[in-house]
Amino acid sequence: MAVIKKSPDEIEAMKRAGQLSAAVLREVGNRCVPGVTTLELDQFAENYIRSHGGTPTFKGYGGYPASICASVNEEIVHGIPSPNRVLKSGDIISIDTGATVGGWAGDNAWTYAVGKVRPEVKRLLDVTEECLWAGVSAARPGNRLGDIGHAVQTVAKRAGFGVVREYTGHGIGRNMHEDPNVPNFGFKHTGMKLEAGMVLAIEPMITMGTHKTRLLNDGWLVVTQDGKPAAHFEKTVAITEDGPVLVSVEPTRKRPI
Ligand code: MF3
Ligand code: CO
Repeated sequence: MAVIKKSPDEIEAMKRAGQLSAAVLREVGNRCVPGVTTLELDQFAENYIRSHGGTPTFKGYGGYPASICASVNEEIVHGIPSPNRVLKSGDIISIDTGATVGGWAGDNAWTYAVGKVRPEVKRLLDVTEECLWAGVSAARPGNRLGDIGHAVQTVAKRAGFGVVREYTGHGIGRNMHEDPNVPNFGFKHTGMKLEAGMVLAIEPMITMGTHKTRLLNDGWLVVTQDGKPAAHFEKTVAITEDGPVLVSVEPTRKRPI
C-alpha cells in the first residue's frame, strides 16, 4: 500500500474532524472523575460527536462496539467501555476518540489522572506527553519515519520507561488507518522519507514497567504483562513545508508548536 498525501485544502477539511475528535476528548477528560463508569463516558462521547455533526469513527470499525476506547491503569489501548468499570481516585485512563466529519477521520487520545495519583504515575503521564511532542516535532520534511520513533523512544528511555512495540501510530485520512505505520521506536535517518502532505496519527504508548503486552480474550483490550500502568497520548499531525501542523489542537498542557 502507498501513502496518500493530502493537499492543503484537504488538510483544512481534516481539521474539522480533528477538532471534533479533540473537543470530545477534552469534554470526556473533564468527566473522568471518581464514580463515573466508562460506559457513561462512551455514551456522552457518542452524543457529543453526533450532535456536533460527526459520526464516531470507531463504532463498527473492525467490529469495535463503542465510540471511544477507555483504558484504565495497566490497560494500554482499546479498552471497551463497560457499565461495570467504575473510575476511582488514583486511576489513570487513556481516552481515545475518533470522529469522522465530511468523510475525513480525526483520531486523538489523552491519558487523564482520576482524582489524585501517585507521584510516579504523574511522572509517567508527563513523560508520555513529552514523548508525544518529541515525536510531533520530528514530523517534518527532510526527516524520515525512524526519526519520529527515535525521538519518542529517547524521551521514554531517558525516564526509564518502556516503549510498546506491537502497536503503532499510523497515517490517517479518509480512512482512520492508512499507510505508513508509525512506530514509537526506530533509528535516526532510517525509513520512509517524510514529505509535505503526509498526515500522521502519532501515538506513543509508554509503560512504567515492562514494555511487553498481552491481548485479552475479548480480542481488543491490550494490557501490560506485568500489570504496571501505561499511558497513551495521540495527536493527528500534518507534515507541511513549514514543519508539523496539528490537525487538532486540544487538549494540551505543554504544546510546543
Ligand atoms: N485510535 C485507535 C488507533 O489508532 C483505534 C481505536 S479502536 C478501533 O488504532 F476499534 F476503532 F479500531
Ligand atoms: Co490512532
